[in-house]
Amino acid sequence: MGLLTGKTALVTGGGSGIGRSIAELYAKEGANVVISDINAQSGEETVQLIKSNAGEAFFVQADTSRAVDNELLVSKTIERYGSLHIACNNAGVGGPSSPTGEYPIDGWDRVIAINLSGVFYGCRYQIPAMLKTGNGVIINMASILGQVGFPNSPAYVAAKHGVVGLTKNIALEYAAQGLRAVSVGPAFIHTPLLKDMDEDTLKFLASKHPVGRLGRPEEVAELVLWLSSDKASFTNGGYYAVDGGYLAP
Ligand SMILES: NC(=O)c1ccc[n+]([C@@H]2O[C@H](COP(=O)([O-])OP(=O)(O)OC[C@H]3O[C@@H](n4cnc5c(N)ncnc54)[C@H](O)[C@@H]3O)[C@@H](O)[C@H]2O)c1
Repeated sequence: MGLLTGKTALVTGGGSGIGRSIAELYAKEGANVVISDINAQSGEETVQLIKSNAGEAFFVQADTSRAVDNELLVSKTIERYGSLHIACNNAGVGGPSSPTGEYPIDGWDRVIAINLSGVFYGCRYQIPAMLKTGNGVIINMASILGQVGFPNSPAYVAAKHGVVGLTKNIALEYAAQGLRAVSVGPAFIHTPLLKDMDEDTLKFLASKHPVGRLGRPEEVAELVLWLSSDKASFTNGGYYAVDGGYLAP
């Protein structure tokens, strides 16, 4: 029996990188997995990867920056599997790189819409479904940049700090009703999110991690799996770093 046998889990941004790794691990541990992504092709690919390993998954296309898409995602999950136990709000984008005084307004709006409002919209519709189920776990994907700043990324840093705060609030509001909400903070992880960075930048970033390298999506997924499982029953509201020591100094 797997750690998540009998549970239904939803992963946004499940078509790539960290989200795909989480979806695959959830399925390996016995969950019915709802993969959601704005990109239908990559989301369906994740479903096929899971099915080829005898897992159970299906895909729902959704843009997390649209409230209505989040509502539909939850209702399609319930329609298909009958309940919702775990939601990992993972979809996110990097956004433009420039100092705050020159930051493009449309870039700010887009990053906040996807990385912060998208997480809120997800929780907004997942919570009532979980209350009906009688229990639930929400894992919100923050970042080390939900704890510290990073020059030229004001929108990303603000959104991720917002995700950490929103998650604390949900814990306070719903702990007594059997819900847990936690945020996860990866440092820099080798995924397509970093695809525009050149070798020198990646080397510089690696040097900021005491462990001397970037992380792998599977290393984030292992923490998310544990937090999503009943083994983490006394965790609630916290921020969990998976960062090769980045935040230690
Ligand atoms: N890679 C890193 O270094 C790193 C570090 C810390 C936190 N994170 C966070 O982890 C999460 C996943 O990042 P990743 O590195 O796997 O990136 P990624 O680019 O590999 O995957 C992100 C996925 O989100 C999807 N997506 C983008 N906008 C969307 C939208 N509006 N609606 C639905 N889906 C959308 C993309 O299509 C993609 O499949 C993000 O929230 C990111 O901020 C990443």
